[in-house]
Amino acid sequence: MTQTFKYPENFLWGASTSAYQCEGAWDEDGKGMSVQDAKVLPPNTCDFKVCSDHYHRYEEDIKLLAEMNAKAYRFSIAWSRIIPDGDGEINPLGVEHYHKVIDCCIDNGIVPIVTMYHFDLPYELEKKGGWSNHDTVDAFVKFARVLFEEYGDKVPYFLTINEQNVMIMRGSVIGTNLRGNNTLKDIFQQNHHMLVAQAKAMILCHEIAPKAKIGPAPNITGVYAKSCKPEDNLARINAEAYRNWLYLDMAVFGRYNTFFWKYLEKHDSLPEIREGEMEILKQANPDFIAMNYYATLTMQESEETYEDNEKKDQQSGYNVSGLFQPAKNEYLKKTPFGWGMDPLGFTITLRQVYDRYQLPILISENGIGMYDKLEEDGTIHDDGRIEYYAAHIKAMADAIQDGVEMLGYCPWSAMDLISTHEGFRKRYGFLYVNRTDEDLLDLKRYKKDSYYWFRDMIANQGRFE
Ligand code: BG6
Repeated sequence: MTQTFKYPENFLWGASTSAYQCEGAWDEDGKGMSVQDAKVLPPNTCDFKVCSDHYHRYEEDIKLLAEMNAKAYRFSIAWSRIIPDGDGEINPLGVEHYHKVIDCCIDNGIVPIVTMYHFDLPYELEKKGGWSNHDTVDAFVKFARVLFEEYGDKVPYFLTINEQNVMIMRGSVIGTNLRGNNTLKDIFQQNHHMLVAQAKAMILCHEIAPKAKIGPAPNITGVYAKSCKPEDNLARINAEAYRNWLYLDMAVFGRYNTFFWKYLEKHDSLPEIREGEMEILKQANPDFIAMNYYATLTMQESEETYEDNEKKDQQSGYNVSGLFQPAKNEYLKKTPFGWGMDPLGFTITLRQVYDRYQLPILISENGIGMYDKLEEDGTIHDDGRIEYYAAHIKAMADAIQDGVEMLGYCPWSAMDLISTHEGFRKRYGFLYVNRTDEDLLDLKRYKKDSYYWFRDMIANQGRFE
């Protein structure tokens, strides 16, 4: 990084979590169940009852983030704490809890960045059809109104829906779609309902919380073609439309991605659109794009003989017959959990997103899942994570120097928490939380080497050796 380069003023160096993965207290103070409390757990993983106990330890955790020089903390609000059954009575204890969390951030000089909905739909809504039911749109708007009225004057950034694209494509893996095996039509009806709910929330935010800014938060990843064969390149652009642009074209431009719309039409799977909804979608006007980036994907022409036995999760195994199929990228190293690592792909993805939408970008997740080990002297030597962050921060600095406007970088995650489907053993935090999948131990926090590295990097205004 050139020594003359400077990050924008007030750049939001921070860290991220989500409620259901770190809070615990799954049924305390009037909280209702969410789909995550109801899902069947993948083998050898723990449940979400205690997690990292952040619900009770948020003060200690936020202080530790402040000591790490964090300028921002991105966390989510559990919908079923605020409205336990999703659309009925408001739970005052839930509302109060997040006032305390937000105030604690502010008192510690940390900007609170709130995700409104991170994979934890209230279970009562799921029982009534979840996002297939149009009433869930109204329920989300009711929830949004509570958030903006309660917190809108002290939260400067709201993120609407975390990784809507992942919920649509991989809902069964991460536990956000408990009804399983939906048809293409149903899945993209759910998608449409989420898009409308998001647009209505953005409009409402601008109306009743004019000081706050709001934006979508998909998981965006650049896509490579396996070769320069034209068919592979077509597969690449199909995958980009399917995985990335469908969601952001609607959030930003208020229109369906043309190719994707035709694809749904061909498969007799167009969503039902109610009167006035396309106008609402056009008026949403997000202020920024929040995006989670982990790695790029590589795609090739879809073959009829393809055996779909890839690992399937957020980052891998996307195969859509006739459009694209995943291919190996032998140039990328892998994380200990098998996800690709592609810092240059980060620069590429940031440039693509900014070129297309011209909105400032907030990185709301980026990070590496590892098997960290607590040494007897209380240290954790996570060199792999430091290397990962150094490479990605450098790649982000390159993107900024190439003209990309960025608001901040909030990697995943502030503390160890439960992975979406790989348990507590897959650790991401700057802070080690002393528990395992099998045993809660004492849940004490320890600073990993990456914590000190990140602290010094922020103090040094984004510079490091
Ligand atoms: C993102 C999610 O997809 O990736 C997080 O927004 C998640 O909730 C993170 O934890 C890492 O994924 P995983 O599956 O390793 O927990």
